[in-house]
Amino acid sequence: MKIVKRVRESLLLGSALEFQRDRLGLMMRVARECGEMGAFRVGPLRIIQVNSARLTEALLTEHDSMLSVGALGRLFVPVLGEESPLALDGEPHMRFRRASAPAFQPKRLIRYTQPMAEFADQFQRGLQDGATLNVEAAMVQLSRNIIAKTFFDESVEGEGVDVFSAAVDEVVAYLARMTARLVPIPLSWPLESNRRVRAAIEVLQSRLKQLIQQGREAGVDRGDFLSMLLMFRDAHGNGLSELQLQSYAMTTYFGGYVTIANTLAWLWLTLGAHPEIRTKLEQEAEAVLRGRLPTHEDLPKLPYALRVIKETLRLYPPLFLFGREPAGDLEVSGYPLRKGQVLLFSPYVLHRDPELFPEPERFEPDRFLPEKEKALPRGAYIPFGWGAHACIGQRFAMMEMHLAVAHLAQHLTFESLPGARTRPLALAVLKPDSANMVVRRRNGESTLLGARGVG
Ligand code: HEM
Repeated sequence: MKIVKRVRESLLLGSALEFQRDRLGLMMRVARECGEMGAFRVGPLRIIQVNSARLTEALLTEHDSMLSVGALGRLFVPVLGEESPLALDGEPHMRFRRASAPAFQPKRLIRYTQPMAEFADQFQRGLQDGATLNVEAAMVQLSRNIIAKTFFDESVEGEGVDVFSAAVDEVVAYLARMTARLVPIPLSWPLESNRRVRAAIEVLQSRLKQLIQQGREAGVDRGDFLSMLLMFRDAHGNGLSELQLQSYAMTTYFGGYVTIANTLAWLWLTLGAHPEIRTKLEQEAEAVLRGRLPTHEDLPKLPYALRVIKETLRLYPPLFLFGREPAGDLEVSGYPLRKGQVLLFSPYVLHRDPELFPEPERFEPDRFLPEKEKALPRGAYIPFGWGAHACIGQRFAMMEMHLAVAHLAQHLTFESLPGARTRPLALAVLKPDSANMVVRRRNGESTLLGARGVG
């Protein structure tokens, strides 16, 4: 039997303070000090962190049926609901996958390309040359508009938008606090912060109820995700319960934009520090699109944009950790794991394995040239997770990012502010700590012709 090494930590407090203050630093240290599997404590939780592609693959494929989402999955129940797929195992979880799968079929997804490209176009048209822009806030707005339209047939204009946005922000802040603690504070406790979160959840739930009601009354497939959920019938002819509809919709709404928005923000910020890579991306986009909106058929002709997105997801995976618990005792490659222990997988740490990604901190999209990507072992690159809970929105996300990046890159250059240095904040997702950039419009000024060329 192999022994899981423990990281150096306080006997009394474990690593709780370090986890609060600098969880990325702590998780990297666990990998350095302990090797392929390492243990640390946060309050009452003993956490086993999996640090190698080999063990990640073994656990999330071979042993996946023995893993439950456990305590970390249930962390978000107060917001996302009891039936959130992130908190479900076994048959109830399969019900979510079956009900949602039709909305993510390639044929369905292709129908979303036009609204995606149109929103990206509307966004770029609204920007002024030389303006300073917070790219994170801008990408949040863009991806929120897209998910609202494509998944809920919801216009994000009109009355109530500010109240709704404030409620979303309050809930995202709560999710961030939960990620920092790992042990939830019950929302029923009489704290001012809890009162605000409860009020925000109420706003979101009543809006969702309205949308569900409208969808029911319409009684037709409007092509959006909510329609698909409403039409779902299982083998016994039963539809989804109200709680299932609410929880599935809430999880998909949050999963569907916060992640994309932060990836896109990191992409522009990183390119700001790599003008030669940015120019290559802009040249590809201009040559293929020539000023028009991208379509689904254009995507295979934009391979560099795809590599830039993949490399951004390697260095800045929005979901930088996720957890599981063995449902019974098991042994993995000689390591004994006990029922109920918390297993932590960190794409942030796994993607920085110097054996698999030499000079891991260097931004190098060509790591994802097809032959190099194929050579990566399974379990080495998991920005969308793996196994039964692997991201159901992966294709949707890649398509939206690919279209948006190519379209924006053919019109705009986002430049870093002088001296800017951005660091990751590990909140509910991996966020940039500062995100202001200067927008340059290249109307008519082609990067291809070298007008702004940097090499
Ligand atoms: C850059 C974009 C995205 C990233 C990096 C990402 C990442 C992830 C990861 C790592 C998981 C697994 C969590 C776990 O195992 O506990 C996950 C699950 C999930 N994601 Fe995404 N996601 C993205 C976009 C989306 C989009 C666009 C949607 C919906 C439109 C979505 C909906 C979901 C849902 C519903 C789950 C739960 C799946 C389940 O438990 O069966 N995600 N995502």
